[in-house]
Amino acid sequence: MNKMNKDPLFLTLSQIPLKDKTVLLRADLNVPVADGKVSDTTRLQRILPTLRELANSSAKTVILSHFGRPEGRRDDKYSLRPVAKELEKIWGAPIGFVDDCIGNTASKAVKALKPGEILVLENTRFHEAETKNSSEFASEIAKLGDVYINDAFSVSHRAHASTEALARLMPRAAGRLMEEEINALESALTNPARPLAAIVGGSKISTKLELLENLVAKVDYLVLGGGMANTFLAAQGLNVAKSLIEKNMIETAKRIEDNAKKHNCEIVLPCDAVVSTKMEHGAHTDTVSVDKVPAGHMILDIGPDTVNKIDDVLSLCKTIVWNGPLGAFEFKPFDSGTNAIAHIVGDLTKENNVMSIAGGGDTVGALINSGVIDELSYVSVSGGAFLEWLEGKTLPGIEALK
Ligand code: 3PG
Repeated sequence: MNKMNKDPLFLTLSQIPLKDKTVLLRADLNVPVADGKVSDTTRLQRILPTLRELANSSAKTVILSHFGRPEGRRDDKYSLRPVAKELEKIWGAPIGFVDDCIGNTASKAVKALKPGEILVLENTRFHEAETKNSSEFASEIAKLGDVYINDAFSVSHRAHASTEALARLMPRAAGRLMEEEINALESALTNPARPLAAIVGGSKISTKLELLENLVAKVDYLVLGGGMANTFLAAQGLNVAKSLIEKNMIETAKRIEDNAKKHNCEIVLPCDAVVSTKMEHGAHTDTVSVDKVPAGHMILDIGPDTVNKIDDVLSLCKTIVWNGPLGAFEFKPFDSGTNAIAHIVGDLTKENNVMSIAGGGDTVGALINSGVIDELSYVSVSGGAFLEWLEGKTLPGIEALK
């Protein structure tokens, strides 16, 4: 068995018999779709190693996944059919599709599979029983296969039938992407090379409260940017003019600072900022010290002195974890600070052998925009699950794999 997570021990693909077995592979095919077309295939690309290994082992692969949040009803808008087509293109050989994940049609299609072939079943969330983690529903799915593989770290924070109840019913193992995600997160937080810095951005403290509380007890430096840094600046008595702040979080920000001190964690806040009266593309900007934000202006990005300050801190580190953009990166030029830090993290990864791990929500979008996403050691395909792991939570889909 491999030691892969906090409280370890579960099997991997090489440790479970696969030859001629029908494998129920829980993948995350929840990809962005625009105008009926998959607009980002990253999640599909990332399951290819597992698919290849299953095919090479002469397994018959049956893919289970959710897609969007159809609320327990069949809804064509959330059909996995177009996603299965896209996966077929990437895979380069035919992939079957069945319009239900249980019942006769599914069962017939599964029985017709030959070793090495792949079949995608329709969205598990078309059944209300999926999100209710129903064991009856899981038993219906279990009838279709011999072995369960979870390759969907990104949805393992959900205790749903296809991620939790089903795992408990079958011989089970983690897929290669699951392994990769857990190993990366392990090396970031469980056994990190130190010093360890976490960069946390995003607009609100309230949505990342548990994350911040957990991180101050674990990291050596907590670098804050984005809207949430404004609340910390306000907590130090600075006037941030019209910048986004959460007044009701000011006391919380002070508490986090106190906890950080107790744990010897240095919180790194912006010392200068790019400000404007408008948050829009091409807005007129000024760069000011954070104690001189002009009336009527908002802080929308970190300034160049802050970039240097963060560079100095990151250059001391051996491990960097990153979640959340440092400014309003969707509006140029307020992506400059995030881009500059992305380049610094990329360079440190290459030149100083730093372990750099990023993930969660907007982070991947911000890194793609920076053009250096490939230079980081690891970029997670997970949003909520990445965050929950960093928050120190137990993920039900992973617990069930043990
Ligand atoms: C994600 O995109 O983060 C996962 O696929 C989980 O989706 P969910 O938030 O709808 O459960």
